[in-house]
Amino acid sequence: MKTLKIANIPGDGIGREVVPAATDVLHVIADLHGGLKFDFTEFPWSCEYYLEHGTMMSEDGMERLKDFDSIFLGAVGNLQLVPDHISLWGLLIKIRREFEQVINIRPAKMLKGVRSPLLNPKDFDLIVVRENSEGEYSSIGGNIYQGEDELAIQNAVFSRKGTERAMRFAFELAKTRRNFVTSATKSNGIVYSMPFWDSVFKDVSADYPEVKTDSQHIDALSAFFVTQPERFDVIVASNLFGDILTDLGAAIMGSIGVAPAANINVNGKYPSMFEPVHGSAPDIIGKGIANPIGQIWTAKMMLDHFGEHELGTTLINVIESVTNDGFLTPDIGGTYTTKEVTDVITTRLKEVEKTGKLVQSNNIEIL
Ligand code: NAI
Ligand code: MG
Repeated sequence: MKTLKIANIPGDGIGREVVPAATDVLHVIADLHGGLKFDFTEFPWSCEYYLEHGTMMSEDGMERLKDFDSIFLGAVGNLQLVPDHISLWGLLIKIRREFEQVINIRPAKMLKGVRSPLLNPKDFDLIVVRENSEGEYSSIGGNIYQGEDELAIQNAVFSRKGTERAMRFAFELAKTRRNFVTSATKSNGIVYSMPFWDSVFKDVSADYPEVKTDSQHIDALSAFFVTQPERFDVIVASNLFGDILTDLGAAIMGSIGVAPAANINVNGKYPSMFEPVHGSAPDIIGKGIANPIGQIWTAKMMLDHFGEHELGTTLINVIESVTNDGFLTPDIGGTYTTKEVTDVITTRLKEVEKTGKLVQSNNIEIL
């Protein structure tokens, strides 16, 4: 029996509604596998915890998280209790930084049955690999002078190590998908860092002759996300470019409620963290209508991370069969609740366990 130790941090708001939903799904997934078990430990760290203890996590929090196989997080933030810069930096960003989660990955895929804002969305299925430790988000720079002479300098930092690391991750990922990596560049306008980025991309791609490559300037690339998202497989981008692209990726899927993400530690020293893109959604807390798909898809990414690709694929296929059959929460145009959507997903997973096949309501087998 393979046991995976997972630290659950539901956090605030709808994090507490969607993390239990996804945990239920993971238990069913483990039964489907037969030889796999999830051992969840829940941590109450949140804005309410902060009010009681004066910190977002316990003093020994990082030490306690260190030995888990991964961290499964909901959302952090409750502006009525704690300012965002305290809550996010005290928990979410602290974990990302201290556990050296230097890569952020976010897939964007057209889910059947979910309305995309694109007029004619083809069957797109892409994933953005964002360098998450340096680049444009460095803290090197400064301000000088006042008044009309006032100026600000913000330095972008690109190391060969960091750049290469993100690119290798993208190529390895492409090998498990459609063998195609697109590099997001801007070497026609940014004269030092982006030509460097391009040359590292060329060096790394030489090690992967089986993977097709393309390089696109970030402005054109953003436009392609709207006009032809189906042309992409894996995209590798710097911190800032990746940040912008991934929001666009979530937008073309139809709702932030379905968008998953992962923060990956690549040196194996610390656990990686899996969290949906959305926040605590204060406007819908307690209504039971939070879309659980972002969190459940995040669980699929965790399965992939553990090498359980078959289970991961089954889970995303089940999610898509459920949206395709119209079991949708209000954010994507339906009337179903968090619990109802989760129940349909678990029921269908159990069907797969019994029959080895997933049968949709219109009797089309998709597995
Ligand atoms: P948000 O993502 O919480 O909500 C934006 C809009 O999307 C709201 O209308 C919300 O109802 C809707 N929405 C989000 N997730 C949904 C879901 N699963 N199902 C249905 N609808 C969903 O972003 P907002 O309002 O800017 O931030 C709220 C709080 O969350 C803030 O404190 C913010 O700092 C925090 N936050 C935390 C993040 C994290 O933990 N990774 C990410 C983004 C925001
Ligand atoms: Mg962003």
